[in-house]
Order: sequence, then structure tokens, then C-alpha cells
Amino acid sequence: MVDQFQDKVVIVTGASAGIGRATALAFAVRGARVVVSDINEEKGRQVVQEIVANEGTAIFVKADVSREADVQHLVERAVEAFGGLHFAVNNAGIEGTPAPTGECSAENWARTLAVNLTGVWLCMKYQLPHLLAAGGGAIINVSSIAGLKGIAAMPAYTASKHGVVGLTKTAALDYATQNVRVNAICPAAIDTEMIQRFCGGDQQAMAGMHAMQPIGRMGTSEEVADAALFLCTDQARFLTGVILPVDGGVMAG
Ligand SMILES: NC(=O)c1ccc[n+]([C@@H]2O[C@H](COP(=O)([O-])OP(=O)(O)OC[C@H]3O[C@@H](n4cnc5c(N)ncnc54)[C@H](O)[C@@H]3O)[C@@H](O)[C@H]2O)c1
Repeated sequence: MVDQFQDKVVIVTGASAGIGRATALAFAVRGARVVVSDINEEKGRQVVQEIVANEGTAIFVKADVSREADVQHLVERAVEAFGGLHFAVNNAGIEGTPAPTGECSAENWARTLAVNLTGVWLCMKYQLPHLLAAGGGAIINVSSIAGLKGIAAMPAYTASKHGVVGLTKTAALDYATQNVRVNAICPAAIDTEMIQRFCGGDQQAMAGMHAMQPIGRMGTSEEVADAALFLCTDQARFLTGVILPVDGGVMAG
């Protein structure tokens, strides 16, 4: 049986590492043609090499999602290379600098919102016309449990991820009748470079990350990728505007 992702075209942003990398690899294994995008060109090209070495199809396009010209170029390049666009996982994000709300710098606020929220909007703005032209498709925006609850000392990150939730719901409504589904996933602590940076190499902090999740451990990038892929499948054809925690039970508490 031919996989439903066979030859379909997907853009994954922030795909040089962590959740984005795992998502790009998962789409490639299922036969999709993958546009690996990131600001980190060296690591992004390694992801492409890994895909090609496993007989998959991928290209790398460098793009900072906070820059409109970069995002426009990314989407144009994807369509030029592969003839269309069917799926997008808007995953690129930064944690910013932790500080209580009154101590968050204007620079940290602006950069975190620019990448995490404006970046997702810019991606959708340029992706949506091509999904419509293809007759339909699906977009997954990567929010966080910080899009569903407050996280102390992370005001900009939390605001940006709540913003992604609202933006996802609105986009879902805007395109619901046009066969374009827009959903968001909200990971809890996932063992990536972002979490390692956040914990600053402190083993006790890492242990705390494992312990805070009812399931008793952090998630893996592959587990988040599986959720993103599921929302793109035909089995999820009645799901749009869904904000899905991928969190080992955190939001159940
Ligand atoms: N790891 C977690 O615990 C966790 C939890 C909830 C949500 N998330 C979200 O998941 C997404 C991926 O996180 P991760 O843990 O894999 O992070 P990561 O830091 O391991 O990887 C993020 C990737 O995004 C890229 N990137 C950063 N800024 C960019 C920009 N302006 N334009 C394009 N690419 C950029 C980085 O170069 C990197 O390759 C983020 O949106 C993050 O907020 C992560």
C-alpha cells in the first residue's frame, strides 16, 4: 500500500535539531519530500544528508522565520523544487532568557515574540495559498504547554505560545471549508538541546524535568513528531483547530 505521505511536500522549520529534525526524518521515512529549514545551515544540511542516505528526498533552505523575506523565499523555493506544498510543521522556536515578568528585557520580549509568534504567522501567510492551490493540506503549529498555562519566569515565551494557540484556532476557522486543516501541538518537557540549555547542564534540574510529568519522564522528539504526523494524516481528517497537549499527562493535573 502506498503511504499517504508518498511524494507529498512538507516544510519543517527549525528542522536542524530536536523536534523539527525528528519530524523531518519521520516525514521522509514515509516517502514525503521534505524541505528542511533552519537558521543553522550546517546541521540542517546534515539532516538532509541523513534523509538522502536513507533513500529519502529533501532539500535545505536557510530561513530565519522572523524575517518575512526569508519566509517568502523558503516557501517559493519549496514550491519551485517540488512543484507544490501539502503540509507544514511550523516548529522553529526559542526559549528566550528566563526572568520574572518585571525583569524581562524589551529585547528578549521582542525577539521571542518575533520568532515564536510572528514567525508562525509569517509561515502560514506564505504557505496557505499553496495548500489551497494543491486542493488542501494540513498545518501543524508547535506551541507548548506554555501556550495553555503560565510558566514562571518565562513571560515572553508563555505569551508567544498562547499567541500560537489563538492564531491556530483563527486560521483553522478561516480555512475550514477549503480542505485545509490547522492544528497545534503543545509539548511539555521534551529532551532536546532547548531543555538542556534551559537546565544549564544541571543534572538535578534535568531530573526535575523528568519528574514533573505524570508519566514519569520527559518526552522524546520522536514522540512529538508522531503526534504532528498523525494530525496530518487522513485519519485526522475531522480534526481542525485542535490544540493537542503532547505532555505525558501534565495538563491532566
Ligand atoms: N523541548 C521542549 O521541551 C519543548 C517543549 C514545548 C515546546 N517546544 C517547542 O518545540 C519547538 C522545537 O523545540 P526544540 O526543543 O526542538 O528546540 P531546539 O532548540 O532543540 O531546536 C530548535 C531549532 O530551531 C532553530 N531556530 C531557532 N530560531 C530560529 C529562527 N529564528 N528561524 C528558524 N529556525 C530557528 C534552531 O536553530 C534549532 O535548530 C519550539 O517551538 C519550542 O518552543 C519545545
